Amino acid sequence: TDHRIALIPGDGIGVDVVEAGWSVLQAAARRFGFGLQGDTFPWSCDHYLRHGAMMPADGIDRLRPYAAIYLGAVGWPAKVPDSVSLHGLLLPIRKSFDLYVNARPHRLLPGVQGPLRAEGFDILCIRENTEGEYSGAGGRVHVGTPDEVAVETSVFTRRGVERILRYAFAQARRRSGRLASVTKSNAQKHSMVFWDEVTEAVAADFPDVAVTRYHVDAIAARFVTDPASLDVVVASNLFGDILTDIGAAIQGGLGFAASANLNPAGGVPSMFEPVHGSAPDIAGTGRANPLAAIWSGALMLDHLGETEAAAATVAAMERVVARGAVATPDRGGTATTAAVAEAVAAEIAG
Ligand code: NAI
Ligand code: MG
Repeated sequence: TDHRIALIPGDGIGVDVVEAGWSVLQAAARRFGFGLQGDTFPWSCDHYLRHGAMMPADGIDRLRPYAAIYLGAVGWPAKVPDSVSLHGLLLPIRKSFDLYVNARPHRLLPGVQGPLRAEGFDILCIRENTEGEYSGAGGRVHVGTPDEVAVETSVFTRRGVERILRYAFAQARRRSGRLASVTKSNAQKHSMVFWDEVTEAVAADFPDVAVTRYHVDAIAARFVTDPASLDVVVASNLFGDILTDIGAAIQGGLGFAASANLNPAGGVPSMFEPVHGSAPDIAGTGRANPLAAIWSGALMLDHLGETEAAAATVAAMERVVARGAVATPDRGGTATTAAVAEAVAAEIAG
């Protein structure tokens, strides 16, 4: 089979890590005998400065036919305000293709020293990506007066909550059979009680999955004190946002944090991207750690059904990291972005 991928390098180190990651994915395609064709879309803050938009008006329609989108990072605050760059590219893609699952693997690669002792730490966070606390509903009245009030309303729909839970239960079934559902139903008596009810209803269809409910504060503490006790974690948009930053920190930082923005129903491209941003402070220096982008690429291969190639890519990454020799400066080494990618690609080639 042939997979057609839309490449959006974006800004800053996004460009470096997509180039690096793509070379690794090409090595996996050669080794496992499938085609991986990429078309590059130079949509970025520079595109905005030249054309007055982060992407063309028909940008979404041009992405639609692709099997997946592989994205670097978007944003360069000195050129374009973040609110403009985010709302001009990333958010329209997530929204137009209804990428309602944000999945992030958190795990310590062998030999990586994180801030905690976290043996056996291997968490898959499933964050709701389209509604909840980030729905944008609300407003302000009596602005600037002593009577001012700001309201930010969370919106949870049955369709939205049920589909994210179904996806999470299915992932738990694929892994350990354990699912942690994150709420705050003691304090938030409407939305989170609703979330708990839907969890219970969906659980009836997954009798083989053991679901445990945690309040978000308690599970945040558990991430730090006993991360190995957790496996698949499902959470709302805000709670998932916070927990995945904790997960990324435990796994050794942004250089390792990978993500998938998925529409499991298919028919539209899902999007795969490292969690980090464009890192203007190191852009163009060859210091960017490409492992987060490579790992995100492996998630993309898995999504495309190339499960062997995906597993081999992760295994190759693990072997290179375990040897420790080829490491970017954030890991205490002196290797370049490209050198790390070459080492992983060589490992895949065998
Ligand atoms: P950032 O993630 O770009 O950088 C934070 C710090 O981590 C910097 O010191 C950077 O050098 C370091 N860092 C990040 N990724 C690294 C890597 N792969 N290897 C080595 N060091 C790495 O976050 P920041 O500075 O807050 O944002 C910069 C721009 O990126 C902003 O415009 C922001 O909006 C955008 N951004 C975009 C995201 C996306 O495209 N999904 C996500 C986060 C930020
Ligand atoms: Mg975040």
